[in-house]
Amino acid sequence: MSYLELTWTDDETGMNGFVVIDRLSRGLSGGGLRMRAGCTIDEVRDLARGMSLKEPVVYTPGDKYIPLGGAKAGIDCDPYDPRAREVLGRFARAIKPLVDTCFATGEDFGVRQDVIDEVFAAEGIASSAGAGYRVVEDGAEAGMARQLAAFAVEVDGVGLGELVGGYGVATCVLAAIAHRGLVAESTTAVVQGFGSMGGATARYLAKAGVKVVGISDREGLIYNPLGLDVETLLLTRDSLGVIDRGQLRTDDEQRPGTEWLCLDADVLVPAAMSYVITPDNVGEIRATIVVEAANVATLAAAEKILHDRGVTFVPDFVANVGTNAWWWWVVFGDIEPTAGASFAKLSDVLGPLTIAVLERAARDSVQSRAAATEISNEKRAMVDALHPRTVKAP
Ligand SMILES: NC(=O)c1ccc[n+]([C@@H]2O[C@H](COP(=O)([O-])OP(=O)(O)OC[C@H]3O[C@@H](n4cnc5c(N)ncnc54)[C@H](O)[C@@H]3O)[C@@H](O)[C@H]2O)c1
Repeated sequence: MSYLELTWTDDETGMNGFVVIDRLSRGLSGGGLRMRAGCTIDEVRDLARGMSLKEPVVYTPGDKYIPLGGAKAGIDCDPYDPRAREVLGRFARAIKPLVDTCFATGEDFGVRQDVIDEVFAAEGIASSAGAGYRVVEDGAEAGMARQLAAFAVEVDGVGLGELVGGYGVATCVLAAIAHRGLVAESTTAVVQGFGSMGGATARYLAKAGVKVVGISDREGLIYNPLGLDVETLLLTRDSLGVIDRGQLRTDDEQRPGTEWLCLDADVLVPAAMSYVITPDNVGEIRATIVVEAANVATLAAAEKILHDRGVTFVPDFVANVGTNAWWWWVVFGDIEPTAGASFAKLSDVLGPLTIAVLERAARDSVQSRAAATEISNEKRAMVDALHPRTVKAP
């Protein structure tokens, strides 16, 4: 059962928004805020549960960042709706008491962090993740200064904050490739979604030598068996991750978005909506490695089918932990707010974690999600034993 579930209805549009706090840890919880037409409280609850596993899974004794409990927010509104920004503002106003005290939030599907920052600031919220700053050892101001410094960093035309999540996903993919005895340079990949997560995943897979043969966005799929020009597409996509079709090369094919799943590729990375791999379509998958950049991308029954077929599967709360973990590593001062320190920590933590998950799954003949859940629960128990359950009053 969740610790708190809240449904808000916008007076002006009738749209609904939701917050679910799955659990508090030392009085705090964290998780992103998504905007999607059709978003429901059930979806937000699933995502909040995932956050409770995601927070501790990267914990290393000695880190200043102590994992929070899991939470999530969602608004049933298309991010392209002209009223989306106003709805987000009224939602922020409504949930301010939670954000000020126990719920640290940030970007997720359909909302970029810079938009959250602007809209929340207009509602008198200095940082969407401010609740977490209350436990920063050298104070909230120092934490905030590190966060601002990190978000000001750009790497080859893209903000660091938008890259770390996908860099983490790519790190997990590369570990899974090695675990299967393959090499990046002779491996192909398809990525569904080209926003924060999908865009950076494609960039860092391509940089590692993986041939990215398919990328889909909300308008459809772009396919080229010889490999796409990821960098050009990345730097010319719109602010919500839609590819500029004018940038396609003559041999790039445009296909229906639904075909992303059945392309002939070694690696599949869902990096858009939830619930996209189902028992009905899982049979179409030809890839031998599936890495979930998107939260709850795969229904449980479909995941079991992939496991039984011997597909290497890296579950969401391991694969996409990068953004969340990075944010807190920076704010708490575990790493310098630079690209070099950020990528180094992500590689050091996520590569070995992926291998540990896959090895435990093989050793115990269980699905990788079960192995990862065990690891996360063991780390949560370690955190609870090591750290007192107190938090400064707001
Ligand atoms: N951004 C983060 O920090 C973060 C962190 C962890 C997990 N995630 C998860 O990753 C997923 C993507 O989040 P994001 O922040 O990258 O979102 P985003 O809004 O930045 O990008 C979403 C992408 O999905 C595409 N898309 C929309 N509808 C589509 C459709 N029907 N078919 C194919 N593509 C479609 C959009 O065009 C866009 O390219 C979500 O499940 C989110 O929960 C995000």
